Amino acid sequence: MPVEILQTHKLLQSCEEALAAKFTVHKLHEAADKDALLAEVRDRVRGIAGGSVKPELMDKLPKLEIIANFGVGYDTIDTAAARQRNIRVTNTPNVLNDAVAELTIGMMIALARRIPQADQFVRQGKWTAGTFPLLTELNGKTVGILGLGRIGKEIAVRAQAMKMRVVYHGRHRQSDEPFIFYDSLEDMARDSDWLVIIAPGGKGTDGIVSRRVLEALGPEGYLVNVARGTLIDEPAMVEMLKNKTLGGAALDVFEKEPQVPAELLALDNVALSPHQGSATHQTRNKMGKMVVDNLDAHFRGDPLLSTVV
Ligand code: NAP
Ligand code: 8YV
Repeated sequence: MPVEILQTHKLLQSCEEALAAKFTVHKLHEAADKDALLAEVRDRVRGIAGGSVKPELMDKLPKLEIIANFGVGYDTIDTAAARQRNIRVTNTPNVLNDAVAELTIGMMIALARRIPQADQFVRQGKWTAGTFPLLTELNGKTVGILGLGRIGKEIAVRAQAMKMRVVYHGRHRQSDEPFIFYDSLEDMARDSDWLVIIAPGGKGTDGIVSRRVLEALGPEGYLVNVARGTLIDEPAMVEMLKNKTLGGAALDVFEKEPQVPAELLALDNVALSPHQGSATHQTRNKMGKMVVDNLDAHFRGDPLLSTVV
């Protein structure tokens, strides 16, 4: 008999097909009556594919052994509760580093050179009536990276290719990295032209890009968030972008996404993106494969590919 698993949200077609080929899959997100489905499968489900797993869901599945998250960030899974219940948690690191780093640099250039606005300028026939304003460049500027991890390092490589100076902040100095380390995020923001956020979401980072940090970045400073919306004091950021005490922001993630603060939509000094750092065919397929391979490895008794808990 195939192992029974629960899927918590829609996944890539290739991933869903691979899961269906190996497991009996129950789709919680498609169930009209979720409680009825959970009651029916409670003593049979041994794995979860997907995120958004709270302790209450774990308690409804007493045979649960593993949660295979689709994504490297696992802030929607209560890992402490999983550990207490002896449930393994896996994620999808590394396969998405390049895609996220590429989008980061793309958004930085889009913001600096107002590429979305320039496109509209040409399309709307405004070019014949005048020239587009002069703007700013990345080269020669300092970028402070909050979170010089797997993705942060790929952003650093690409920022250097843009002839930027890289500095970073994290909880630890990385002695094998050539970049200047700041133990104070506020000090790094003060010394940076660009602040790129690529540290995990969750309790440890909630609101760490505070109003004080944004003030330190200042009216000439640009903020880039490709991590999670929860890291920033979003109301302060919106207010400061509006009154130009913060120079600009390129945002792929938001506190209550897919809801985006309406005030941001009217601002010219903002570039917006719908949480699409990893959203390419090649990367999402690799992420989906990792979800399946982690579940498969667990139920075969093999080592897991990527373990969080
Ligand atoms: P990673 O390799 O674990 O790197 C995370 C970095 O953040 C580390 O360098 C860590 O350094 C730092 N960090 C962790 N906690 C911190 C804290 N409290 N204060 C300051 N720095 C802290 O993770 P990754 O694979 O690069 O992924 C990073 C995050 O990117 C994910 O968790 C996810 O939320 C986000 N992400 C977004 C997208 C997207 O589509 N936009 C796609 C993929 C990932 P220290 O240990 O020295 O603190
Ligand atoms: C995904 C991400 O879009 O991996 C992550 O942490 O944020 C993205 O790659 C997301 O997890 C799946 O929707």
